Amino acid sequence: MLGFQSSIRNKVNYAYYIGIIIVVGISILNYLNLMTINKKAEFSFIVSDLFDTTLEMRRFEKNYFLYGHKEDYSENLRFTERSEDIIKNNKEAIEKLAIKADVYALDTDIREYKSLMQKYFEQDKRHAPMETRTLEERIREIGKKIVTSTEAISVAERKYMQTLIERSQRILIFSGIFLIIAGFFIAEYLTRMVIRPLKLLEESMQKIANGEFSFIPVLSRDKELLSLSKAINTMLVELEMRQRHLVQSEKLASIGTLLFGVAHEINNPLSNISTSCQILKEEIEEADIEYKRELLSQIEAETDRAKDIVRTVLEFSRAGKKENVNLKNAVNESLRLIKGEIPSKIEIRMEVPDDIVLFADKQKLQQVFLNLIKNSMGAIEGEGKVFISAKKGKGNIIEIEVRDTGIGMEPEIVSKIFEPFFTKKDTKKGYGLGLFVVHNIIEKHGGTIDVESQVGYGTTFLIRLPLKERKDEE
Ligand SMILES: Nc1ncnc2c1ncn2[C@@H]1O[C@H](COP(=O)(O)OP(=O)(O)O)[C@@H](O)[C@H]1O
Ligand SMILES: [Mg+2]
Repeated sequence: MLGFQSSIRNKVNYAYYIGIIIVVGISILNYLNLMTINKKAEFSFIVSDLFDTTLEMRRFEKNYFLYGHKEDYSENLRFTERSEDIIKNNKEAIEKLAIKADVYALDTDIREYKSLMQKYFEQDKRHAPMETRTLEERIREIGKKIVTSTEAISVAERKYMQTLIERSQRILIFSGIFLIIAGFFIAEYLTRMVIRPLKLLEESMQKIANGEFSFIPVLSRDKELLSLSKAINTMLVELEMRQRHLVQSEKLASIGTLLFGVAHEINNPLSNISTSCQILKEEIEEADIEYKRELLSQIEAETDRAKDIVRTVLEFSRAGKKENVNLKNAVNESLRLIKGEIPSKIEIRMEVPDDIVLFADKQKLQQVFLNLIKNSMGAIEGEGKVFISAKKGKGNIIEIEVRDTGIGMEPEIVSKIFEPFFTKKDTKKGYGLGLFVVHNIIEKHGGTIDVESQVGYGTTFLIRLPLKERKDEE
């Protein structure tokens, strides 16, 4: 197949040429047909002329028999000879219309008619009246036969013309139908060859846009489409490499921040414990029992704090097990765990369909709701509402929303909330790990989380999780 490469351009050209060949072919066919009709029409005049001539011939014959004028005879002779000429000059064409033998008979009849008329003309009518009458009879008989023959030929010609015209009508109709069908097939061919691969390309691109990373398949052998899909695939490889690189460095950066944060956060309670221990050691004999008890409580609290941080980090790095989780059940479970902490002035509402099942780590999914709801409750001063809802979005995506009517956040804060150890709360209330953990869990489930917040009005967290993570229930 060297030297030939299939391409859209060639295919469109081929289709175009085929269309032109069909149109030109049909035009030539119709033109030839019209030419035949034209030629036949000319012949049709000759045939009707022959018929008229024989009629004239007979008219003068009658007149001559009636009045015996010599001029009538010469007119009769003129028309007789004219008929003879017409037959002689168009013998072949006439023979096509009538049976050969009939034409031959007509020819002989005319010749006999002519000689009988001559005989009649030369005869002495007064001396042989009987003979004259028989001759007259004979001439009339032949004359009638001649007219009948020419009339038959004329009728045959008219019929032939009619069939010719009908035939060309049929050819016109058929060529019209054929053109329409051919046009349809050519259009179908073009669609198949050009539009379908483009459509497939569009679908593949849509999939990629929806986050399903996959290469563009070979859609067609056409040069243009091949190079297009090749270019897109190269771009995809490049993008994936860059993304991987980015994720890698992002991960390293966040691990670094986490490590630094953990060290820092644990160092604080440790140094407090250390200080308390030192004081205790120095004043173990002097100080009053109340003071010692207070120092010990501080040590206990700081130890708990360090333990909590370590536990969160450990929990965070625990490898989970995914299973089919009913979303509504998971949210309900999370609510049950914090039931005791919900102030009476805060109303919590939930609107999650019963039938959403995700393939997820159940405990971690619950942790997400726990952290988000706790934050929302923390953001509400006095009365307020927390609203949890979920719905199936476009392209097998589940959209989960946690909305509150709390104090909201400034944009500078919003940009930092997912960082580890970022907190606006005092050290006793939070370590700033809640949203960091949430973000990580959602990411590990192939989802995304977005925030919208307005100071004084409230905050909305929007989580998008892919349904494809779900395994077939068996
Ligand atoms: N629903 C919310 N409304 C207002 N501010 C919020 C909300 N959720 C989180 N924040 C802000 O983001 C910060 C980080 O939250 P988080 O990571 O959960 O840590 P923590 O709750 O321990 O402070 C919070 O200190 C708070 O300032
Ligand atoms: Mg929190």
